[in-house]
Amino acid sequence: MVVDPLPHHSSAVAPLLPVPQGAYVVPATVTTFGDRPAPFLSLIIPTYQEAANIAPLVQALTQLLDPVLPNDYELIVVDDNSPDHTWEHAQQVAAQFPVQVMRRIDERGLSTAVIRGWQAARGSVLGVIDADLQHPPETLIQLLSEIRRGADLSVASRHVIGGGVSDWSLARRILSRGAQMLGLVILPEVVSRVSDPMSGYFLVRRGAIADIPLSPVGYKILIEVLGRGQVRWIGECGYVFQERQEGDSKVSRQHYWDYLLHLWRLRWARWQGGRLLRFGTVGFSGVFVDMAVFYLLRGVLGWGLTRSAVLSAEVAIINNFLWNDRWTFGDISRRQTRRRQMIKRFLKFNVVCLLGLLLNVTIINILFNGFGVNAYVAKLLAIAAVTLWNFWFNLKLSWRVTDKD
Ligand code: GDD
Ligand code: MN
Repeated sequence: MVVDPLPHHSSAVAPLLPVPQGAYVVPATVTTFGDRPAPFLSLIIPTYQEAANIAPLVQALTQLLDPVLPNDYELIVVDDNSPDHTWEHAQQVAAQFPVQVMRRIDERGLSTAVIRGWQAARGSVLGVIDADLQHPPETLIQLLSEIRRGADLSVASRHVIGGGVSDWSLARRILSRGAQMLGLVILPEVVSRVSDPMSGYFLVRRGAIADIPLSPVGYKILIEVLGRGQVRWIGECGYVFQERQEGDSKVSRQHYWDYLLHLWRLRWARWQGGRLLRFGTVGFSGVFVDMAVFYLLRGVLGWGLTRSAVLSAEVAIINNFLWNDRWTFGDISRRQTRRRQMIKRFLKFNVVCLLGLLLNVTIINILFNGFGVNAYVAKLLAIAAVTLWNFWFNLKLSWRVTDKD
């Protein structure tokens, strides 16, 4: 128990936790106050209009966790300035239970609330549970045992043995499964890793998401953890999603659009879309350098065609390498700063680009001579194909993250 409960008669309410600012990055290490050790588990309870649910939930959680994690867990309510003053109800509960309360004024949203809670948390295992008792607290015991067995992530799932939903309407079932299908199409390698990617009830090791910039949208915090975290081993525990007793679900049409946007952002990030755009921009600039040097050598100095073409191509490759090394792959090359490493990257870049040049000429000949494609269209298609080839092989070969020496 991290926060010593004040005696019942105390009228003081627990102070609010400061809201972390800036990027959504969970720190790898936490600052412990004084001699109190950091707790094992930090469970975040995101709330919006849950005044009637907070006390019953906290009581159920503490009854469950006190025997299994005595003095070794913390509950953090993250409220988004609810009109029903949920945060005040939580502060009153905090007078008797190990609860800390955060009230966000300027930000709103389930996923970002959970991350702000994780940023303020001090446990080595971070979790999230809904405030409305639809997520049965007792499932926590199984989630904890999965983590103790070595899982990086343990997810309460409605779609494994022991799982299910109470009497959901057919429409809600179809919507939920439809959202899951969509996720499997756009992000198969992420969404297929769990049976219930829509779950908002799970525990994750701090190390699996620490120091990684997260940028969730809407409700689905789990796909953000799966999409950007380093999660090797996943445990799943079946649970039955309960009927809400008090208050209403906040899920709205907007959340479905948020979900689509979230899938797309993760897809772009995992394709390294931003990096590919930068690589293409550098390659495009290289075309101008190549043409300018070719004109200088051949047009002004009168050098032979092949010599001018090869030298101008090499000058363009050097130009592209320098830009890519500083801009496109800067986050990687800044970790490999020794001269030897840079020379190695440059030589590999050259090899990939020269092979790319061969591929370029081959594609143009096949399209032009084999299929009668217009020469300029063939050239453009060849440039597009070779750009992807150069990007992929340079990412995997020249700017390898695992490069040791
Ligand atoms: N801080 C904060 N800000 N909390 C929010 C917000 C918000 O904008 N919106 C919702 N919450 C809280 C609610 O107070 C509740 O504790 C929890 O997030 C879930 O909200 P509900 O509105 O009850 O969602 P649901 O029951 O329809 O769906 C839940 O369960 C599904 C199955 O696990 C959500 O957790 C879904 O993400 C999840 O897929
Ligand atoms: Mn709910």
